[in-house]
Amino acid sequence: MAVRLGDIAPDFEAATTQGTIKFHEWKGSHWAILFSHPKDFTPVCTTELGMAAGLKGEFDKRNCKVIGLSVDPVESHMKWEGDIKDVTGHAVNFPMIGDADKHVSNLYDMIHPNASDTMTVRSVFVIGPDNKVKMTLTYPASTGRNFIELLRVLDSLQLTAKHQVATPADWKQGDDVIITGAVSDADAATRFPGYVTKKPYLRVTPQPK
Ligand code: BEZ
Repeated sequence: MAVRLGDIAPDFEAATTQGTIKFHEWKGSHWAILFSHPKDFTPVCTTELGMAAGLKGEFDKRNCKVIGLSVDPVESHMKWEGDIKDVTGHAVNFPMIGDADKHVSNLYDMIHPNASDTMTVRSVFVIGPDNKVKMTLTYPASTGRNFIELLRVLDSLQLTAKHQVATPADWKQGDDVIITGAVSDADAATRFPGYVTKKPYLRVTPQPK
């Protein structure tokens, strides 16, 4: 069964490069990104893991913990970490789950048999402080993900969790935002003074602080 937006992210216990964890306990009330990669010692995955490690400071600023996963065992992840540091300059600074028995991969539907029945696809789950799934994405093995985009999504999710706004295409921090339809024009006038009505359904305002 697929894990969908709004679902509670399934809890699990798993061996990781930083010891055995219980996922919900490890996550606590932080945001979290759980992502799978297809296989250790492969080129695209090496670049992805290095990129994620290099952005740790940015994830920390957003109160977001990061955890990786593949069906390779923890010992393999640990050996591979040396290559990731050599190639990208970034030491892996978050746990990687060794899911050799595929129990987490199956729980999160990360194995798509018509793509590969032995490897996980490139799944991402962004999970909120309430343990609910806020975003998912799935890329194939041949396409590395854009981790800056994940930061952008986190910024949008965190902003829209606090304010009754939505973020437009290609939005980034500081750009104007959209007032949601749940806010009446009268309320908008007091909460977002000076907002602009482009269409009755498209009202724009500077990003709230
Ligand atoms: C890669 O990371 O380059 C990769 C992983 C699995 C299959 C194909 C490519």
